[in-house]
Amino acid sequence: MTPLKIGIAGLGTVGAGTARLLADNAALIATRAGRPITLTAVSARDKSRDRGIALTGITWHDDALALAADPNVDVVVELIGGSDGPAKALVEAAIAAGRPVVTANKALLAIHGTALAAAAEAAGLPLGFEAAVAGGIPVIKLLREGLAANRVSRVAGILNGTCNYILTTMREEGRDFPEVLADAQALGYAEADPAFDIEGVDAAHKLTILAALAFGQNVDFSAVHIEGIRNISALDISFAEELGYRIKLLGIAQQTPSGVSMRVHPAMVPVSKLLAAVEGVFNAVLMEGDFSGPVFCQGRGAGAGPTASAVVADLIDIARGSKIPVWGAAQAALAPSRPVAISAL
Ligand code: HSE
Repeated sequence: MTPLKIGIAGLGTVGAGTARLLADNAALIATRAGRPITLTAVSARDKSRDRGIALTGITWHDDALALAADPNVDVVVELIGGSDGPAKALVEAAIAAGRPVVTANKALLAIHGTALAAAAEAAGLPLGFEAAVAGGIPVIKLLREGLAANRVSRVAGILNGTCNYILTTMREEGRDFPEVLADAQALGYAEADPAFDIEGVDAAHKLTILAALAFGQNVDFSAVHIEGIRNISALDISFAEELGYRIKLLGIAQQTPSGVSMRVHPAMVPVSKLLAAVEGVFNAVLMEGDFSGPVFCQGRGAGAGPTASAVVADLIDIARGSKIPVWGAAQAALAPSRPVAISAL
């Protein structure tokens, strides 16, 4: 069978994890995709760094944009990160060159998702972004496919693995914030700029993407109310525990009579609730469809393995030739949702 040839831009935690997954599970992936998925080209800043992956026979491009023009690349995988700059230029160039794109870039999609999806749809190209939200949880598939028949009234959950890891470890070990953040960075959970994690910006990016898909509307990232966890102390966590609560950074998007409300902030969650039991690097998402009722899923929200799993799921869809709406068509199918009352999470 003709292989699907992949070019990866960005060989950080997720890029290297994706290359490893494609190599380690090559036979299984080829069987499920109907053809092999082969890494043919990469682009990253430092060629000499040992990433624990074999790059023999793979073309190295110093300039990520060259991937979009490489005739030996069928699909561009953008893992550079950042809402503008080289990541955006690469995705635009790949679409203009007629190449499907897979990206884990939540910042890019939260701000430019509607425009990029429109460009991909106009060109008849897939734009995969399962890895942009909640790591290994296939939440984009759930919204676009599993709940496609529903009007979704609310999407909420724990959307940042670094913050959940920090809050859990502070509670379990009574350690201070900066020390635990350093652990999360060493484990490959945190963003290049960890302020995005702890200030709630990363969770807000993901919430914006979920809201756009769930409610079928163009949602504005700048309208998200954002508060992070920087000011939460070990003492706050221990007082909450005594009162029967866990402190969690939540993202909540819902329809209200005045439009879509989106907010990210720390919240006291009663220990009896499912969300309170979601600990460590795990994320969780609760979705409410009018016919499905509540759907709750949890899984690892950050790190090489879970995020690579989501990237390769998109690649398998593309290799199979699946025709899944990118964004706009999904909006038409889901809008408008009905306002709902706020109920306990
Ligand atoms: N920094 C992000 C997190 C990575 O901790 O959730 C996954 O998007």
